[in-house]
Amino acid sequence: MSDHLLQVQDLCVEFRQGRKRIMAVDGASFSIQAGETVGLVGESGSGKSTIANAILGLVPITSGQITFAGEDVTHLSFDERRKFYRNTQMVFQDPYSSLNPMRTIGQTLEEPIRSLGGGERGMINDRVLTMLKRVGLPAELINRYPRQLSGGQRQRVAIARALMASPKLVICDEATSALDLSVQAQVLNLLKDLQQSEGLSYLFVSHDLEVVRYMCDRVVVLYQGRIMESGLSDDVFVGPAHPYTDVLQRAALDPDPKVQRARRREFNVSPQVPNKNADDGVRRCPFAPRCAYSQQQCWEEQPSLCSTERPGGQVACFRSPEWRQ
Ligand SMILES: Nc1ncnc2c1ncn2[C@@H]1O[C@H](COP(=O)(O)OP(=O)(O)O)[C@@H](O)[C@H]1O
Ligand code: SF4
Ligand SMILES: [Mg+2]
Repeated sequence: MSDHLLQVQDLCVEFRQGRKRIMAVDGASFSIQAGETVGLVGESGSGKSTIANAILGLVPITSGQITFAGEDVTHLSFDERRKFYRNTQMVFQDPYSSLNPMRTIGQTLEEPIRSLGGGERGMINDRVLTMLKRVGLPAELINRYPRQLSGGQRQRVAIARALMASPKLVICDEATSALDLSVQAQVLNLLKDLQQSEGLSYLFVSHDLEVVRYMCDRVVVLYQGRIMESGLSDDVFVGPAHPYTDVLQRAALDPDPKVQRARRREFNVSPQVPNKNADDGVRRCPFAPRCAYSQQQCWEEQPSLCSTERPGGQVACFRSPEWRQ
């Protein structure tokens, strides 16, 4: 039996904007094992949030399959999805917009339990206090409103809310990206501690390579909705197998923030059209227009994801690993 907690297979999500089709996710496959943190990294517009939302059924899936603990959760009825949410929760980037400003922190934390059918008043109260403590917040916040909290405290509340019903998998979508660096570090460490104490698995979505490297056992690198590379974090970041990962990493490593910003802009991906050559319908390497190592084949065929010699490593590049020489 497979010990995958989550398995995403050949996931495609296509959006339509008028007559334009946007292939936001194009054939993505990856898995997460129990207790593992898998990072989904790539620049803005690469399809990270769309994958996260597709797992939770928040965007329609064009094709592909998602299984959770061996059960097909690709298309669920309302009741089935409610059950699925007991096991899988999400923490978003901006807790200010994901927390209801009209509800106290106590009411916010009770809500997930109530929507799952409730429980005895005293039991719910105990759970709220326990979770506040676990995320490092004082009990007196229970009667406060989100606007009365700092950004870091609000994100701790969002984490506590996600954990109220004891999920197995938490999807963090840029969960610390809006926080100051020192607060970010505290929240990342909190997530790590909670992983141990609550036995969680994470899908950790971020554009920030340093954060992903710190948090994740394995990483999946996305470009224009396709997986360019995946493998153990240390392998991928120490010696990228794909030219795109190399570019991402060089941008992240440059000590000059201006250079980092300029590189980010340079590689900021615009909404993608279906990955086909407009004239002849031939699919090509999506990275070819920006790749310093492209050759004829890269413009005429699409490289598929192949195993590398590293454990669990995969790369979609005709010239890997030779481009590194
Ligand atoms: N609801 C939507 N309707 C149309 N296009 C969308 C929608 N959501 C995302 N997209 C497009 O899909 C692509 C991937 O977006 P997203 O998954 O948000 O990327 P990321 O999270 O990596 O920044 C982008 O081109 C984005 O403009
Ligand atoms: S397949 Fe070709 S264009 Fe694509 S990343 Fe590899 S070398 Fe570059
Ligand atoms: Mg996003």
